[in-house]
Order: sequence, then C-alpha cells, then structure tokens
Amino acid sequence: MTDDNDTRAASLRYALADELQRSGDLHSQQWRSAVERVPRHLFVPEFFRWTDGPNGVTLWAPVSGDHDPDRWLDLAYRNETLVTQLDRHITPRDVTEPVSGDPTSSSTLPGLVVRMLEDLNVADHMTVLEIGTGTGYSTALMCDRLGDDKITSIEVDPSVAATAAAALRRAGFAPNLVNGDGLDGVPERAPIDRVIATCSVRQIPRTWLDQTRPGGRILVTITGWLRGYGLAMLDMGDDGIAEGRFLPGTISFMIARPQAPPTISDEWRSTAFGALADAEPRPAVVGPDIRKDWTGTFVAQLALPTAQEQMISIDGGPFITYYFDTATGSAASLTPEPGGGWTVRQTGPVRLWDAVESAVAIWRRAGSPEIDQFRIRTDGHEQLVWLDTADGPVSWSL
Ligand SMILES: C[S@@+](CC[C@H](N)C(=O)[O-])C[C@H]1O[C@@H](n2cnc3c(N)ncnc32)[C@H](O)[C@@H]1O
Repeated sequence: MTDDNDTRAASLRYALADELQRSGDLHSQQWRSAVERVPRHLFVPEFFRWTDGPNGVTLWAPVSGDHDPDRWLDLAYRNETLVTQLDRHITPRDVTEPVSGDPTSSSTLPGLVVRMLEDLNVADHMTVLEIGTGTGYSTALMCDRLGDDKITSIEVDPSVAATAAAALRRAGFAPNLVNGDGLDGVPERAPIDRVIATCSVRQIPRTWLDQTRPGGRILVTITGWLRGYGLAMLDMGDDGIAEGRFLPGTISFMIARPQAPPTISDEWRSTAFGALADAEPRPAVVGPDIRKDWTGTFVAQLALPTAQEQMISIDGGPFITYYFDTATGSAASLTPEPGGGWTVRQTGPVRLWDAVESAVAIWRRAGSPEIDQFRIRTDGHEQLVWLDTADGPVSWSL
C-alpha cells in the first residue's frame, strides 16, 4: 500500500471505532485502541460479498485488494462480516465471477467481535484461548490488548490456519497458534483465564472446562441442527461446573466442524416418507413458522436436539416441512392446509412435534421471553439449558 493508503486505512479504523462505540458494542478505551491500531485489511486481502443470484439464490462475489483497491479498503473497514472461504475449500482467489456455496470461514462482524471481547471482561495479566482463528483479525485484537504470549488460537482448517499465521506475522503479532480441533482445547496452555469461541457448538466440550481456571469465563454460541443460536457466557466454578446465562441479541456463528449435522441418506429419507404416509394425522397446535422467531427456533431446537429440518415439495405439491432425526430414527412432517394451519404426522420412537409443542407451550406460558432469559449449566457431560417460569425452573438436556 502507498503512504496515502496507509493514512486512509488509519482514518477508516478510527471511523470504525467511532461507529462501534456509538452502537454500544465498544466501550473500553483498551479495546478501542486495539481497533484503532489493528489493520483489518491485512487479514482480508480478499473476501466474498453476498449478492442476489437468479431465482433468489445467494451468490458470493470475490473482492480483492489487487483488482479494486479503493472499494476493497473501504469494505475491509465496514462493520460487516467478510466471508473468506466457501464449502471448506473455495477462496476468493479461486474465482473471478460470483459463485454459490456455504460460508465456512470469515472475518466476523467487527461489532460482534468487540462486543464479545468486552463481555470477556479481561484484565491485563489474563490468558485467552480462542477457538476458530479464521482470518486472525480477532486474534490480533487480543494480542494488541493483552500481549502475544497471553493469546492462544486454534483453527481446524489447515489452509485457513496457515493464511491467518502469515497475516498475523505481517501485522507484527506472534500469538501461540495451533492447527487442530478446537473442541480438544490446547491442554499445554491450561489453565486458561478466558475461552472465546468464534464458531458455535452443540455441546461445550469437557476439555474446555478442564482447561479453564476456576473463576474463568467461557463465551460461546450454543447452536443445534435447526440453526437456533444463543450466545452463552459461563463462569467456571471450583467444582468443575460452568454456569451462566445467554446474552441478548441475534448472534450466530458457523458450527464447529466436527459437530456439523450428518448427511441424511436418500434411503433413510424414503423410509421416513413411507412411514409418515401411514402415520395418523392431527392438526398441529404449533406450525413450523415458529422458526420465524429467533427464540422460538431456539426453543424448538431444545426440544429436538438431534433433528434436522428440510422443506420438500413432491411433484410440484405444497412445500412440506420435514423433521428427520437419524439419532433416534424418528421423523415428523408438517403439511400446510389450504384454509390455514398445519397437519402433523409423526413416526418413530420419539414424537418429535409433540416435543416441540410442549416446549413452545412452556415458553409461551412464561410470556415468550427472549433468549437472554435462558440459563445454562454444564459439567462437560450433561449440558442443561433452563428457563425460570412461574411454576419453577424447566430444563432441557442437550
Ligand atoms: C467465523 S470464523 C472465525 C472468525 C475469526 N475469529 C476472525 O475474526 O476472523 C469461524 C472459524 O472457526 C473455524 N472452526 C470451525 N470448527 C472448528 C473447530 N472445531 N476448531 C477450531 N476451529 C474451527 C472455521 O474453520 C472458521 O475459520
């Protein structure tokens, strides 16, 4: 970059810090200084931007500092998530035109990164373990704030890890970087004061509890295969149990790779279709449109921790919403009725939709509280999420 561009990058960083302060995501001077100093553009030399494709399909257009330096620099300092990998292997360097794919690595929305860093509540002497290095930008902010030797970051994808390592070096940071599965943690660095995950998990692994100092904190988004999300902040007790609450907001992260949903085979699906065709129908009390509500989706997922949702139209008929649970061998279908409402059919040992309706009924009786009214507790084996209701606490085991 030219001197002019360096000056521009510095003023864009300053403007980003102002914006994050105004939005309330950033409030301490130390994290503000980190945002002002860390050159995000070095961590995103190219990225994808979302664009509308034909028939409402999302496509990803490559943006690179080599081809469109002014636009690229502006975008690098916007409060936007910048996707850097699709389908676990496609990078913006691999394509010249917009492509389809599922994001599998990114530089997270800066507002969310700093909000989580503020929530970590670090002090100068503390050590942090980050799960999901990604581009290395959030790692760099932590190095700036606490010092390289306090920061360990683990990334599962070897090529993402190598690119982040090079970017961190270029930006002048030298944290302890590990290429491996973050669900194993990094035992050599234990005990750690703070664990922050920038990928989501279905279950908090026992390893994180073992590697976190009593009094330490774990900040991680809990998800499931229905794509419900809640950012949980847990504090580690002396007894090996971590307990805490969900924080407000609609926050989502890509799921930790080893916890991604299994593929449902065509054979499994057609057996389920056959069994559902023979199942007794009944009117549904709750429809699949519960998924339009952020917390409603989370509640449905509490009831169906191992189910996946698919919408399928057979022979041009209406879209039927299916729930397939390969872990228990159960399935449910919800068919929209022409006059409104839904008909449910269920098969297998677990009545999947009965479970959703009863969880949603509890949640509604409690006044349909937002995600931040839920609490969480785990000993690394059993993970409980619960809601305090007028009839006492109601919990779900994940
Ligand atoms: C949203 S990105 C990380 C954003 C990053 N902190 C940043 O600021 O650029 C999530 C990352 O988590 C990684 N990841 C997914 N599963 C993981 C696992 N089990 N262990 C470590 N990293 C994982 C993905 O490969 C991806 O790079």
